[in-house]
Amino acid sequence: MTQTAAGPTPTTSYPRRLRIGIAGIGQGGGGMLPLMATMPQLQLVAGADTNPVTRERFMQRYPDTRVYDSVAALCADSTVEAVWVSSPNRFHCEHAIEALRAGKHVVVEKPMAISLEEADRMVEAAGKSGTVLIAGHTNSFELPIRAMRKVINSGLIGRLRAVHVWSYTDWMLRARTPDELDPTQGGGIPWRQGPHQIDVVRVLGGGLLRSVRAMTGAWMRERPIAGYYNAFLEFEDGTPATVLHNGYGYFRTGELFPWAREGLRSSQELSTIRKSMRAGTRDEQADKQEFRIGGSRDPNRRTSEAPAGPKPWTPSDLGMVLATCERGDIRNSPFGLYVYTDDGPMEITLPIPEGGAVVEHRGELEELYDAAVLGRPAYHSGVWGAATLEACIAMMQSARERREIMLQRQIAMPPDYDAALELPPPHPVATE
Ligand SMILES: NC(=O)c1ccc[n+]([C@@H]2O[C@H](COP(=O)([O-])OP(=O)(O)OC[C@H]3O[C@@H](n4cnc5c(N)ncnc54)[C@H](O)[C@@H]3O)[C@@H](O)[C@H]2O)c1
Repeated sequence: MTQTAAGPTPTTSYPRRLRIGIAGIGQGGGGMLPLMATMPQLQLVAGADTNPVTRERFMQRYPDTRVYDSVAALCADSTVEAVWVSSPNRFHCEHAIEALRAGKHVVVEKPMAISLEEADRMVEAAGKSGTVLIAGHTNSFELPIRAMRKVINSGLIGRLRAVHVWSYTDWMLRARTPDELDPTQGGGIPWRQGPHQIDVVRVLGGGLLRSVRAMTGAWMRERPIAGYYNAFLEFEDGTPATVLHNGYGYFRTGELFPWAREGLRSSQELSTIRKSMRAGTRDEQADKQEFRIGGSRDPNRRTSEAPAGPKPWTPSDLGMVLATCERGDIRNSPFGLYVYTDDGPMEITLPIPEGGAVVEHRGELEELYDAAVLGRPAYHSGVWGAATLEACIAMMQSARERREIMLQRQIAMPPDYDAALELPPPHPVATE
């Protein structure tokens, strides 16, 4: 498949479409549906969810598909060739293995699983069935991150010396299901946001982390789980990285970027939410359903009402990414990257599809298609995902035991990853 910085070229023809189904049509999974339904190499054929309201809304929006009330029934559908697993974290292993054993290819949401033992069983199941397993939907698949890796590896500004990924969000104030607030079921900020930031760090730095030292923090009475972490990671070659996520919703990283304020909830709305949580009057279940498919705050509904024009990068939950090299730094610009060089700041403007956004989650779907249909490698394989999971679990262990944790299962990203991605040349830009 030919690919440009904007993703597949419109002239690309695909030998056939891959029929995909979705397991768990929630807030995260629902966000993937518009892409699944419109990417030319895919055909969205089915979904499964235990929630009847969600099933009904899914059928209203995608009447040419089928919907099931269990993942087992979805996996018994012989027309489904690949399953996107976006059920709650505690089901990732069970649902992925169910699909793999039924001969389906799988992309599993982050965290890939909630133990390394689960991750191993998933890798084994994929190996036995000869199907593709991708540890997916982390921010590392986003075009600006992939472009950042390309600039680093090009040597334009010398060797990578450090990576920092810092985020302040309102994650802890968003409506949550009980399992999202239970660390034993993969709830809380380290489980939910750690895989994004750590996967980004690994993709940018080559993959081979050596150790993790971290602290986590829990200081909100209404949500007695970790809403904060801060970790120092070291690569085998000595390159340092830091990841940080504060989900308590006071300051948000988006405030630092003038073009990134759209979508940030107002301070007034956050105060109201805080007060209702303190008073115990918030109906979280109803609130959360409003953000799922067909709800009044379904982001896909909002997107269709948004003014036309390309949507710029925003830090979203990932936060600010800063790659420091020997002779410069790299960070996100509204439509690409700022590359600070000896000759001053430059910008690489990434071409984006008409009506599209700089950040779209098509990377994992493209990798799925390429691996499942074209026989190319799955770079974010189960083994890659297990290495990210190892670092994420080590982060929590380090915080508990207050010591550095050495990692044992890291693998390198093969150098040919993203070989077809070509970047436009940088041009000078004023950043002050
Ligand atoms: N990558 C991202 O950017 C991103 C964003 C949000 C969520 N997520 C991931 O998506 C997953 C779900 O989180 P969410 O926020 O969408 O939560 P959610 O509660 O909105 O979605 C989970 C969905 O799964 C359904 N479900 C529950 N048990 C099920 C079962 N046994 N079989 C079938 N369906 C079942 C629920 O009814 C719900 O619709 C998590 O793994 C989370 O990490 C990823």
